[in-house]
Amino acid sequence: MARTRTTKKLAQRIDLHYFKRPTPLKCAKLWLSFLVPLLALLWIVGRGVSSDHRVYSSGSLSRAHAVLDKECAACHVRQAGAFAAKAADNACLGCHDGPAHHASKIASPACAACHSEHRGRVSLAAASDQACATCHADLRNSRPDTRYASRIHSLPDGHPEFAALGRKAGDSATIELNHSIHMKPIRRGPNGVLVNLECGNCHRPAGVEADLTYSDASYRAATVSSNASDEMLALSAGSLRRPKPITGRELMAPVKFANACAACHLLTFDKRFDEGVPHDKPDLVHAFLLKKFEQYIAAHPNELRATPEPAQELGGKPIPTRFRALTVSQWVTERTAEAEELLWRKTCRQCHALTISRGSALPQVAAANVKTQWMPHARFDHDAHRGFSCVSCHAKALTSTEASDILLPGIAVCKTCHGRGPDHADSRCSECHTYHDWSKRREVTPKFMLPALATGGQ
Ligand code: HEC
Ligand code: HEC
Ligand code: HEC
Ligand code: HEC
Ligand code: HEC
Ligand code: HEC
Ligand code: HEC
Ligand code: HEC
Ligand code: HEC
Ligand code: HEC
Repeated sequence: MARTRTTKKLAQRIDLHYFKRPTPLKCAKLWLSFLVPLLALLWIVGRGVSSDHRVYSSGSLSRAHAVLDKECAACHVRQAGAFAAKAADNACLGCHDGPAHHASKIASPACAACHSEHRGRVSLAAASDQACATCHADLRNSRPDTRYASRIHSLPDGHPEFAALGRKAGDSATIELNHSIHMKPIRRGPNGVLVNLECGNCHRPAGVEADLTYSDASYRAATVSSNASDEMLALSAGSLRRPKPITGRELMAPVKFANACAACHLLTFDKRFDEGVPHDKPDLVHAFLLKKFEQYIAAHPNELRATPEPAQELGGKPIPTRFRALTVSQWVTERTAEAEELLWRKTCRQCHALTISRGSALPQVAAANVKTQWMPHARFDHDAHRGFSCVSCHAKALTSTEASDILLPGIAVCKTCHGRGPDHADSRCSECHTYHDWSKRREVTPKFMLPALATGGQ
């Protein structure tokens, strides 16, 4: 008869208590499971006694807050003796302000939503695109009547072309300048040598000394009735104030005649004089001319009798030149009128829009109005791009023939460098935009003491 192997019989052969019996490996495991947490606990207690709370931390603090690495309570306010896992906005505001952005229907996110801590020694100000997109991916939701683009997710996704390049934007400047002819070899003065101008001969950051290659010392020294200061340009009213003071290297100063044009464009007015008229309002130019001619005729009275009559044409036939005797005042008036004819019709008009208002003999020069900030809703900094040639962004400056042309780069130019990934410059919103309205900044009197530093201990 064959042996029957039922599962029941097999089961009876197994020792049901084998796992209760100790083995060397099991003993070791048991000890380890007690020892390791115990060691960890001892270490934590040890650290705790030395008031170092970094062990609970989920990562080291940002560069700016590195000194607070052991001061958890600075941000994690104690609640019932224990630290809160959330950092309180009030704790942040106890050390420095974070003034509101633009009021909107959506409540401002907590400070920590943008300033994520414990990510290592990174820049805290670099908020994620997502933090801004909370509102800007659907701005109409928080501000139905907004005049700004409403669906911005990131620089590549939804960011509009810069308004300065749009149809409605214009160049308010009234100074004529044909960039194209000035960027080709050009004469220095009426009979001068050919030279090649560089952008920097005319343009410079506001905080930097002007290049004087094409300047004129006497025009620079002259005090002008309309001297606008361009040192350290104030930013336009529409822009959020930057948290840090401006360095004066961000934006370009308005171009000055005395610094950049005077060596080539002479304001000469009469062949009797080498000098030019002052570069100023027409009434001052007029007064200057009267004075110059009065002084001249006083020194050269003979010229009164040698004045040719104004050329006349009778029936197409030129009549022979005749000479008249003039009074001093007649002579001065005529010479001044001649000089002004040249200046108002040609010399000044080359660069300026002149308007003649009724009842006034003298024209008016339109205000120069050279814009110094074109993109007030972003913060551009030429200094951060000083390694790149001007024409890499302002290519149009080489071909532009009208002063009204907009020579600024569009968003596509920025995207060649600002993008995602390690081989690109940062493309997060915070790289180019200010978030807080720092003009409303509240001064905070610091109350926080750093016990660890104060006692000099670890
Ligand atoms: C400069 C302020 C600041 C200091 C100092 C600070 N933290 Fe934080 N901590 C934060 C912020 C901000 C968060 C983000 C969480 C939140 O509030 O939403 C956070 C989150 C945490 C979390 C939750 C886990 C996480 O990553 O969200 C822990 C745990 C923590 N901190 C521990 C500590 C410990 C321990 C210390 C002291 C060594 C410390 N923190 C010091 C600001 C701070
Ligand atoms: C104990 C005081 C203190 C507390 C609390 C504190 N900070 Fe700061 N914070 C500083 C100091 C000091 C600096 C460095 C000076 C500066 O750049 O303004 C700084 C800098 C910053 C910066 C600028 C970082 C940079 O790279 O320029 C941000 C953003 C910031 N703190 C946000 C916060 C937030 C958010 C909190 C709350 C979670 C907070 N801070 C809590 C003291 C504090
Ligand atoms: C929606 C995102 C966002 C929120 C919310 C936010 N910040 Fe900021 N914060 C930024 C950005 C972006 C910058 C850098 C540009 C700027 O200064 O506006 C910044 C800069 C700062 C700076 C640094 C200024 C400097 O000196 O460079 C401080 C300090 C600061 N924030 C504090 C706060 C505090 C405090 C809160 C909470 C009340 C807060 N922030 C909330 C995005 C945010
Ligand atoms: C709580 C919602 C909210 C968040 C978060 C937010 N914004 Fe705004 N933002 C607004 C509102 C509202 C306006 C004003 C719209 C208007 O006036 O029509 C605005 C306007 C702007 C403007 C145009 C006006 C100006 O200030 O020059 C810029 C640029 C801007 N935000 C950038 C940012 C950046 C960068 C972030 C992230 C660091 C951010 N915003 C986060 C609500 C928000
Ligand atoms: C001979 C002097 C001169 C030179 C050289 C010159 N510029 Fe200009 N530029 C001006 C004047 C004057 C204005 C203001 C009138 C106007 O709006 O065109 C101006 C305006 C500008 C503007 C802003 C106005 C706009 O319409 O966009 C930019 C940008 C600019 N120049 C870039 C350049 C670059 C880049 C170069 C070199 C390739 C250059 N310029 C060379 C005199 C000069
Ligand atoms: C290196 C000498 C030089 C400098 C510097 C210079 N110019 Fe000129 N500019 C000339 C010459 C030469 C001409 C005449 C070119 C021609 O007609 O072919 C000229 C022509 C002009 C014209 C007439 C252009 C046209 O389309 O006919 C204007 C306007 C002008 N310059 C403005 C300026 C202004 C504004 C500055 C200073 C910001 C300036 N220039 C600086 C040499 C210069
Ligand atoms: C080669 C070009 C050029 C010529 C020629 C020229 N100007 Fe100008 N003018 C400028 C520039 C550039 C500015 C703006 C910056 C400055 O103050 O130099 C200016 C500014 C002015 C201003 C101040 C405008 C304001 O914003 O209020 C007056 C006034 C003026 N010029 C008068 C004259 C008169 C009068 C003449 C003729 C005698 C003349 N200019 C000839 C280039 C020129
Ligand atoms: C590489 C720089 C750069 C980055 C990154 C960037 N912007 Fe801009 N943004 C600009 C410039 C420049 C303007 C034009 C400002 C002006 O016209 O005054 C602008 C304009 C805007 C405007 C006004 C738009 C309008 O309708 O005129 C808003 C809103 C804005 N940006 C939000 C954002 C947000 C949100 C992010 C992140 C998702 C972001 N930007 C990322 C440079 C940048
Ligand atoms: C990375 C691109 C970039 C480079 C490189 C660059 N610019 Fe600009 N430039 C800009 C932008 C963007 C603006 C508009 C900034 C604003 O007004 O808000 C501007 C504005 C200007 C303006 C108008 C006045 C002002 O500052 O707003 C002048 C003039 C100018 N640039 C000249 C130059 C010259 C000269 C160089 C070379 C030394 C140069 N730029 C290099 C991007 C650039
Ligand atoms: C040729 C490459 C290049 C181009 C084109 C370029 N950038 Fe940048 N940009 C950089 C580099 C590199 C930095 C510095 C590194 C960084 O911050 O990531 C920088 C930094 C910046 C900063 C931060 C400046 C600061 O405060 O430190 C702003 C804002 C900025 N760029 C705006 C722009 C805008 C707007 C444009 C387009 C008009 C532009 N950039 C085009 C390379 C470029």
